[in-house]
Amino acid sequence: MPLVNSFGSKGRLVLSTLFIYAVIFELAYCQNDAQEQRTSPGRKAGKPKLGKVTNKGPRAVTAKVKAVPAAQAQTFLTQVLNRGKFTRVGEMISVQSGDTLELRCRGKPVQWGVPSYLEEDDDGRLKTAQFERYGVLTLVNTTGADTGEYTCYPMYCEDTDCRKEYDKAVKVFVFFPDPQELFVPSSDYYEVIQLRTNWPTVLPCQVTSPEAKVTLHREFPPVEVAVDGTEISFNVKKGFTIHRPRPYHAGALYCVASLGNLRQSSTKYMLIYVNYPMAPPAPVIQASTSTVTVGENLRVSCTVVGEQDVAIEITWEYPGQQIGRPMYTQDSVSPVSGGPARQQTQSVLLVDEVRDVDQGTYTCTAQNLQGAKSVTTTIKVVPKTKPKKP
Ligand SMILES: *[C@@H]1O[C@H](CO)[C@@H](O)[C@H](O)[C@H]1NC(C)=O
Repeated sequence: MPLVNSFGSKGRLVLSTLFIYAVIFELAYCQNDAQEQRTSPGRKAGKPKLGKVTNKGPRAVTAKVKAVPAAQAQTFLTQVLNRGKFTRVGEMISVQSGDTLELRCRGKPVQWGVPSYLEEDDDGRLKTAQFERYGVLTLVNTTGADTGEYTCYPMYCEDTDCRKEYDKAVKVFVFFPDPQELFVPSSDYYEVIQLRTNWPTVLPCQVTSPEAKVTLHREFPPVEVAVDGTEISFNVKKGFTIHRPRPYHAGALYCVASLGNLRQSSTKYMLIYVNYPMAPPAPVIQASTSTVTVGENLRVSCTVVGEQDVAIEITWEYPGQQIGRPMYTQDSVSPVSGGPARQQTQSVLLVDEVRDVDQGTYTCTAQNLQGAKSVTTTIKVVPKTKPKKP
């Protein structure tokens, strides 16, 4: 902006330009002042602090524009640029790696959310401060690894008790383009990712520059994987997403980013396909009889009908367990006729020559990757009826 440097040399023209700029700035900030006055009625309406920009004389117009009706209550993030310039940020911004990121957020107080790696790895580069009207986040000596989402949570406070106002949170995705690293570095040489049936899977190859062109590749056979936006899509803030994984998506994949003369590969992703159930199993328990005579045999079956190729584990609890009564199970898996892609998993508990101690509750627990469910049945043991003497 020419407004400071050329001031004085071009007389009235520059002065009026300055006036217009001033009005625009004041408008932007006054809307939020009005909002702040509503929420904290005790405070005197102060002059908006605009950093260096305000120091050059637009104060005279303040009173006039204060009359502008308040905008909707809304939080927003401001990026503080060099030489005291401010810019309101949108969904994403880029900050050259090495430079300082400085964000301001209206609110008293505010809390900040940062990429998890920054949270864990506190090396003194990240600082936050709270001023009267806004919070400031500063990150110095930035690198491509700092790329990620930065969030400001305005806090709602009652006395000293504060909580985050999640619905008023504002996020910005910050890229730190790094001339050496097109991908956010990963500490692992490869990453194992489970592909679950019908669960979207993300290959998190995060680029440090939104301008990088990113493609997806399979290691063997070495081919570029088609990204059609439906089956597989790319998001510059996330990486690739396989929306409905199928067995043929499995294997070793990696991303390639190119920008200018630079072309780099990401970490390798080992995709393992797992037949993942839609829901926990629903076992059904059934005994050959609910009342059994001492000395007879008992069979208790536990049956689960579920999706094909989904492993189910069945375990038993029974009265004789404590005293080590030997029991046997017959386990089987068989296709269900008629139904598409379904199978029956069954475990049959065999109790030979029932004794008194076998009376009680029999529990069958069926488990798959989504969870477990138990069902029970109660067995009554009755004494042998004595044969009548003639
Ligand atoms: C940032 O980098 C400069 C120059 O290498 C160094 O002197 C300074 O200590 C660094 N600051 C932090 C907070 O790491």
